[in-house]
Amino acid sequence: MKKKVQFTETVLRDANQSLMATRLPYSDYADILPTMDKAGYYSVECWGGATFDSCLRYLGEDPWERLRSIRKNMPNTRLQMLLRGQNLLGYKHYHDDVVEKFVELSIKNGIDVIRIFDALNDFRNIKTALEATKKYATPRTVASGCISYTQSPVHTVAKYVEMCKELKSMGFDTICLKDMAGTMSPNEAEGLIKGIKDAIGEMPIILHTHCTTGMAYMTLMKAIDSGVDVIDTATSCFSNGTSQAATETMFYALQQYGIETGLNEEVINKVNDYFKPIKQKYVDSGLINPKSMATDSQALVYKVPGGMLSNMIANLKDMNAMDKFDEALVEIPNVRKDLGYPPLVTPLSQMVGNQAVTNVLMGERYKQISKEIKNYFKGEYGTAPGEVSSQLQAKILGEGGQPTDCRIEDSKRTGKEFQKAREALGDLCRSEEDMMSYICFPDQAEKFFQERLAKEENVATYTITEA
Ligand code: CO
Repeated sequence: MKKKVQFTETVLRDANQSLMATRLPYSDYADILPTMDKAGYYSVECWGGATFDSCLRYLGEDPWERLRSIRKNMPNTRLQMLLRGQNLLGYKHYHDDVVEKFVELSIKNGIDVIRIFDALNDFRNIKTALEATKKYATPRTVASGCISYTQSPVHTVAKYVEMCKELKSMGFDTICLKDMAGTMSPNEAEGLIKGIKDAIGEMPIILHTHCTTGMAYMTLMKAIDSGVDVIDTATSCFSNGTSQAATETMFYALQQYGIETGLNEEVINKVNDYFKPIKQKYVDSGLINPKSMATDSQALVYKVPGGMLSNMIANLKDMNAMDKFDEALVEIPNVRKDLGYPPLVTPLSQMVGNQAVTNVLMGERYKQISKEIKNYFKGEYGTAPGEVSSQLQAKILGEGGQPTDCRIEDSKRTGKEFQKAREALGDLCRSEEDMMSYICFPDQAEKFFQERLAKEENVATYTITEA
């Protein structure tokens, strides 16, 4: 066993995102931040992923303000964010100058650890974000290169080891294995982590997994046994189900092996006590669905993440076609194979799921092909991990047609997004952060800025009346 393992606490980001669709407002957890600051975590994942979108769209919060407040209340802890490479926190790819500015502002507003991934593990899509991280780094900054983990005939241990070597040579400080579907088994974790450690030496390895299929605790223990350096966990009342393994439980188990974690037992228990009534509030309101707290081994059979299944069920119900569910489920691996085995993470999970449903509903495979799948074959998302179906490629690109690097070339061009945002917003835009919110989520950001202004005007009127 390793002598030291550190913890990343995910309650503020991934646990919140997995269990309650990222609807946890800042005001719910503001009071516990000074306590969390004393827990001794490796880092606290608190920003990025879907939090940015959710702040603007649902919570009426300025995501940048949220980050600055967390920073102020947790001055001693590394604050961590998840970044989708060239897609930042959105669903399309942005120009390099936008990516660079976003990273600069993230660091300026308080982020220390930037975990960067690309859905296809096409590392050209994370290069700009890495370079920006290095350019604006403070002594606390950590650039973490992240691999989207999946199983397929082309995703061998050797291939993952190659990816890790590449991440190391690109200049990342740490490497994270991101098992978003929670399908990594103890056996696979052992093979991977030993293989990676052998190949890249001292560089810290982080394991991010989910409890969705019930394997996370076994997988984490085996990973620790095999030399992993940091694990992602969630305070226990926000753990399990589609979330991470429980912080206090892992701490307890590791302590008996004499493994140093740096965690303060009293503090991590206090954190859990604080979040218990908050969790109960959202169970009672229905925001936390009992389904998301359960174990579901179906993902092991179809290699389909939990979120993708619920999305597919919702689509089929909408179309009154739930009787086609089993057929659609069986079609997913076929579509994935035709696409060269992409990891099923946003946006690929939605694309593959929707195409599988279409194939089944039309009664003929690829009679209708979505725009996104066509763009995928054109090369707009990056390079497919394995060979794509030549038949389907010919159907989309014409006989002999080949994908191009249009996506990569496009991102290199400097866009006019900054200017466009400032023109569209006028006085509503008060900072570079505002401008960036607008570039990422224009409709939501503009609505938020208008509401912000309206609130201030109300307050002003009120003050005058009082006087
Ligand atoms: Co996750």
